[in-house]
Amino acid sequence: MQDDVSKVIISETAIRDRVAALADELARRYADTSDGIILVTILAGSVIFLADLIRRLPMKMRIGLITVTSYPGATTRSHGAILASASLPDLRGRDVLIIDDILDSGGTLRLVQDQVRRAEPRRVTTAVLLRKKANAPANLPVDFVGFDIEGEFVVGYGLDYNGLYRNLPYIGVLKPDLYEAES
Ligand code: IMP
Ligand code: MG
Repeated sequence: MQDDVSKVIISETAIRDRVAALADELARRYADTSDGIILVTILAGSVIFLADLIRRLPMKMRIGLITVTSYPGATTRSHGAILASASLPDLRGRDVLIIDDILDSGGTLRLVQDQVRRAEPRRVTTAVLLRKKANAPANLPVDFVGFDIEGEFVVGYGLDYNGLYRNLPYIGVLKPDLYEAES
């Protein structure tokens, strides 16, 4: 599997350090919470980020899960975000933190933010590990960003291509011949 990677963009150590710093920022943001927060995690790409992040958070928290599909099969282009399923605690009046792996066109986060807001939470905050800054729409509010990256398609640390490579411990780019031709 490692042989399929042409370039490591963010190393395992750099991810660990940045996730720790993000957790510190979030701990400060939520220092005043008494009833804890609800993390709404977007599956499946965010599971590794979530697992590493929450073990560094000191406050009480619950997890909600939401599945959005936009990259069906062997594709590196969004085909439009669709809400596939949701398993969420009651969000009304609660402090909600949405977690996603990567912000690209913003279709996914916009869909999830709208869905969460419909449940009338007290406050909605969004954190992403990666942001493709050139693509991300200016009018989509994101409060915490791990790393800004270039527009290329990346895998690892939860992110997949055609369902694979989520278990790479770093963020990298695949060799070009591995991507199936798309019309
Ligand atoms: P958006 O809806 O275009 O912002 O895309 C966000 C979703 O698409 C993310 O939650 C990822 O699941 C997926 N995605 C976007 N860019 C990449 C990438 O470079 N590698 C893997 N998945 C990606
Ligand atoms: Mg995703």
